[in-house]
Amino acid sequence: MSRKEHWETVYTKTDDTQVGWYQPDPEISFRLIEKASPGRGAVIDIGGGTSRLPEKLLDHGYKKIAVLDISAAAVAKAKARLSPRAHLIQWIVGDITEVEQVGHFEVWHDRAVFHFLDELSDRRRYVELAGHTLPKGGQLIIGTFAKDGPPRCSGLDVRRYDAASLAAEFGPDFRVVDETSHLHRTPSGKPQPFIFGSSGNRVGKNTHFWEHSAHI
Ligand SMILES: C[S@@+](CC[C@H](N)C(=O)[O-])C[C@H]1O[C@@H](n2cnc3c(N)ncnc32)[C@H](O)[C@@H]1O
Repeated sequence: MSRKEHWETVYTKTDDTQVGWYQPDPEISFRLIEKASPGRGAVIDIGGGTSRLPEKLLDHGYKKIAVLDISAAAVAKAKARLSPRAHLIQWIVGDITEVEQVGHFEVWHDRAVFHFLDELSDRRRYVELAGHTLPKGGQLIIGTFAKDGPPRCSGLDVRRYDAASLAAEFGPDFRVVDETSHLHRTPSGKPQPFIFGSSGNRVGKNTHFWEHSAHI
């Protein structure tokens, strides 16, 4: 089964409040985004799935929000839930290792997507796209399973990170500004230790943060 087929099946067959990564309130992500962009800049959520993050951002005054996910079923569910505010979000269906550009954003947020990228070439493409998407000073927030987290998620192997190994993936173009440990509990109560790394882009161009892309 391809990566896309896997995720379409998950979101078609499972209630999204029962998946292991479900959280009713994405408060860690929100806190880190607010810290990265207190001025309510443009935010893209990579692999946002059906996360409750977009409505939390809207509720707190963020106006330029995009959600990218490989699964059209996830995006359809998220849009239905957010109706009638769904049109306020830019929705992008695509594989983050394949899309060529997504526009420019002040904050790039990813909770539990980067850790699925097992191939070095996929991780390189991801880092390259993040570098082009975030202007100089833009902030990258990546949440992955920590070293003592589970080895698999959604039936797929994951790579586990600590702050140093996560920083190493993003290389010298990003300056680490923060690292946060977080214990997520799945809906069935299983503990899943996460690490969230926040870094600033030091080499991106100074440009407008928000540009609608062709993927809307
Ligand atoms: C573990 S879930 C996390 C969802 C969301 N970030 C959250 O915190 O609720 C992983 C998400 O990444 C998406 N995904 C997996 N691989 C992807 C890829 N290569 N490109 C874009 N999205 C991807 C899946 O469809 C799924 O929604």
